[in-house]
Amino acid sequence: MSDKATLEINGKKYEFPLVTGTENEVAIDIKTLRGVTGGVTTVDPGYKNTGSCESAITFLDGEKGILRYRGYSIEELAEKADFLEVAYLLIFGELPNQEELDKFHSDIKKHAVVDDDIKKILDAFPKSAHPMGVLASLTSALTAFNPTSVNVDSEEEMYNAIVRILGKFPILVAWTMRKKQGMPLDYGSSSLGYVENILQMMFKRPDEDYTQSKILVNALDKLLILHADHEQNCSTSTVRITGSSHAGLFVSLSAGISALWGPLHGGANQAVLEMLEAIKEDGGDTKKYMAKAKDKSDPFRLMGFGHRVYKNFDPRAKIIKVAADEVLSDLGVDDPILDIAKGLEKEALEDPYFVDRKLYPNVDFYSGIIYRAMGIPVEMFTVMFALGRLPGWIAQWKEMRTRKEPIGRPRQLYIGETYRPFKSIDKR
Ligand code: SDX
Repeated sequence: MSDKATLEINGKKYEFPLVTGTENEVAIDIKTLRGVTGGVTTVDPGYKNTGSCESAITFLDGEKGILRYRGYSIEELAEKADFLEVAYLLIFGELPNQEELDKFHSDIKKHAVVDDDIKKILDAFPKSAHPMGVLASLTSALTAFNPTSVNVDSEEEMYNAIVRILGKFPILVAWTMRKKQGMPLDYGSSSLGYVENILQMMFKRPDEDYTQSKILVNALDKLLILHADHEQNCSTSTVRITGSSHAGLFVSLSAGISALWGPLHGGANQAVLEMLEAIKEDGGDTKKYMAKAKDKSDPFRLMGFGHRVYKNFDPRAKIIKVAADEVLSDLGVDDPILDIAKGLEKEALEDPYFVDRKLYPNVDFYSGIIYRAMGIPVEMFTVMFALGRLPGWIAQWKEMRTRKEPIGRPRQLYIGETYRPFKSIDKR
């Protein structure tokens, strides 16, 4: 294959280098395009064909349904690793040995407290506030209590910022839920594992000791691993472009949380459950909702279906679907919503509208069924997505900053008015 791409504009030919990644993906390096062509740029709404960066963190192949973190398959990681190991892998590039993992967890625990004034900010929110809005605000507020910006050239400073946010973020997640439920803000215990401590902070009743459930710990651990990173998705791109202005890590993460909230992105897991509930209330009439999803005049979409990159099964959805059966059976939960979801999936996979557009269940389609069985309120589902995605966001932000990427500033194609002289108000 040639190592150059040739572009012809108005009879003049321009050559641009072809760059090949380690998985043999090929990209046209257009860094010089505007300069050599005297101003010609590209336009690609939603960046469907445009790579924003080179990255060594996550590889996915949408056609083959492959997802790997630093070369390890999502299937093996979900089966054999725990969330903290995967967080370490994403952020530092290698699976930790026991000593590294123990130190990582111990350093995280040192930061697993937040300034008590955070509670005053939390108290200012009405109980009706959506947890994603609260979480984005509290994450940004952490900057007020940790004002020193990270010197990314110092490995020690970068490491300390990473363990700090990994220690504090689960507290913000748990307190966001408990505030909404009118429950006291629990700190958990430093004697617990990372995921055990999250569950205790979320679920411990003030009048009882909290009994850990292996089923819940394993289910949450697996869900967090499956959500941990996903290359240049909307919220990760937001974290990267925010950090590219050298804004701090915490505020970059807060921007990512806001982007994740949208129902086309992480907010879909809440929208899926609401959709499945509506179908159940409607007598389980899945055919009616399939028709609505295909009707272009109807804004309704089959939430949890379709993906910008996966034109095959989302490998995470496959794993979560199996886990949903296991967790509900282990918990003795019989949720008719799961059967409705399976029925909807079966119908969609046999329907030409979905088959022709390669619309398959994505990560959000089954995850909410497990969260609900675990007793997590539906408005907290996207917060749980953010909890899982945190190490991926950190890894991507760190990669962007340490590779000294330029500030993100896309071009545009202007299609507005050409020059016109000012018109005084009496002439308008
Ligand atoms: C996540 O990018 C990531 O990696 C994200 C994520 C991650 O881990 O970070 O994987 C997490 O966000 C998963 C996606 C969750 N969102 C949903 O489940 C919302 C429902 N899905 C869609 O809105 C949609 O599929 C997107 C947003 C996910 C992808 O949209 P695209 O790539 O912009 O595709 P599109 O909107 O141009 O759709 C192509 C066609 C259109 O029909 P035509 O115009 O060709 O006739 O497919 C149709 C769409 O109308 N279509 C759907 C549909 N999704 C796409 N029709 C009905 N129901 C759907 N869900």
